[in-house]
Amino acid sequence: MKSLSSFPRRIYVTEPTPLQPAPRLSRLLGGPQIYIKRDDLLPGAGGGNKTRKLEFSIGDALAQGADTLITSGAIQSNHCRLTLSWARVEGLECHLVLLEPVPGAFDPEAGGNNFLYQLLGADSLRIVSGRGQAAPAMEQLARECRARGRNPYLIPVGGSNAVGATGYAACALELIAQLRQQDLQVDHLVVPSGSAGTQAGLLAGLWGAGSSLPVTGVNVSRGREPQERSVYELALQTVSRLGVESPLPRESVDCNGDYVGPGYALPTPEMMEAVGLVARSEGILLDPVYTGKAMAGTIDLIRKGVFRKGQKVVFIHTGGSPALYVHMDAFRRRFPPPPASDSAGKKR
Ligand SMILES: Cc1ncc(COP(=O)(O)O)c(C=O)c1O
Repeated sequence: MKSLSSFPRRIYVTEPTPLQPAPRLSRLLGGPQIYIKRDDLLPGAGGGNKTRKLEFSIGDALAQGADTLITSGAIQSNHCRLTLSWARVEGLECHLVLLEPVPGAFDPEAGGNNFLYQLLGADSLRIVSGRGQAAPAMEQLARECRARGRNPYLIPVGGSNAVGATGYAACALELIAQLRQQDLQVDHLVVPSGSAGTQAGLLAGLWGAGSSLPVTGVNVSRGREPQERSVYELALQTVSRLGVESPLPRESVDCNGDYVGPGYALPTPEMMEAVGLVARSEGILLDPVYTGKAMAGTIDLIRKGVFRKGQKVVFIHTGGSPALYVHMDAFRRRFPPPPASDSAGKKR
């Protein structure tokens, strides 16, 4: 495998994210020992996985002399928030193409990431409906930027191409080193799987480093077949970019589609349970769209005995907590407020 220093890269991750045991959660579930890799604590406004991808995507953009970033994501996109956050650090213009799940779903006054686009000063938002619309809308924006004399660089949805996925190959190397330092032998990794770059990059990095650690992706939007196809395709491209000679075996791609529920970003009772359980046992905030569903999957796989007592499982916490505040009403109904009183004991 090539040295990662041979690729254009900006250094945003200055130290490994913690790999920490979750003893109370593990005890409550009565299964394997769970460890959490805290990529939610990565730098960049609000934290989360995209910072690793953006080290390489923005590194590539700057190597090409870009002065403007254009990217795309869902209306509540962590990827758009973090691209914008690093664009501010780099002094780049940043334009966002936001995909509405249904026409009219975009609410300029929504909270969560949507509010943060405003606070971080996005240069423009373009709202489109339908997945096929993102790429043409980004191209159109690029033409408009060029007409103004700018040099735009396009980052695909979720930063999920071989350039971005290289960031998660870097994470795989970081994790392998951490496991060695902590003298930990783990049996399984679990990661949320959306636009595929995180899982594909991890698989490519592990394969390139000669590790056979199994990875389960828990899908957030699609069923097993289409998700495995896109993860495998991107993992192969990433393996090739990394200069690894032997092709990644197809069997190493495992994407579980059982926990998507009614659809992308739509809450499930199991997600709500998982978010509450992790918050209350470990003081860690998951998110409703990605890590909440991935943890719901992990819990179910423990209950079904797929992950067993005596094993060690690493859960990659990819971030996303700003989206909690978009679903506050549902969480409040599920987790009623604690009793409150004034200093005289009068109920408030
Ligand atoms: C918080 C969070 N976790 C996980 C993912 C999934 O990563 P990927 O899109 O690389 O599959 C995303 C993607 O947007 C995310 O924002």
